[in-house]
Amino acid sequence: MVTNITWHHNLTKEERDTLNGQKGATLWLTGLSASGKSTIACGLERLLLNKGVHSYRLDGDNIRFGLNKDLGFSEKDRAENIRRISEVSKLFADASSISITSFISPYKADRELARKLHEESNLPFVEIHVDVPLSVAEERDPKGLYKKAREGLIKNFTGIDDPYEAPEKPEIYLNTSEFSINECVEAIYEYLVEHKLLSI
Ligand code: ADX
Repeated sequence: MVTNITWHHNLTKEERDTLNGQKGATLWLTGLSASGKSTIACGLERLLLNKGVHSYRLDGDNIRFGLNKDLGFSEKDRAENIRRISEVSKLFADASSISITSFISPYKADRELARKLHEESNLPFVEIHVDVPLSVAEERDPKGLYKKAREGLIKNFTGIDDPYEAPEKPEIYLNTSEFSINECVEAIYEYLVEHKLLSI
């Protein structure tokens, strides 16, 4: 509900970016649990910070300890999870930072909302599909969650008894069963350089 409020302006986006010395963007990682999203996000955040680019990671598991601790894994809660993160990542991008989000974000409609929010404000949005065959994710199973889901101890687990709607045209496609984490991080970095997202 939006009533009796007005948007307050200060700096233009150009002024802010110039003063901050960089442009903002959101790098939206999507994929199955155990696909490698968080590990890639960590490597990329470290690389960007080492190169003097301000960057911050918003991670699915971590955000559910705080901002989104009231949300579960129903379709409705996942939509709200992604809506809030879309807004938060948009704020980071507006603040001239590179935000790297790593959420399963299994529904196309939710990811499209994230894209729309950014594009309406002229903020770059880069969708990155971190793909892996389900069998490989299940073999990795670092948190033992796939095993629990197969045993019926966790319900609505993405890939088991809940859907994952793969992106049709992500800006970047990475298959972590074929490429190493470092290769994936490098591929994203190269994309950012090529598309001039790291320079003013
Ligand atoms: S999302 O679907 O709403 O985008 P999010 O990325 O925030 O999910 O959280 C996913 C993480 O929560 C997984 O990596 C896993 O550790 C944990 N998790 C717990 N229950 C589930 C579930 N039912 N489906 C998927 N992930 C789950």
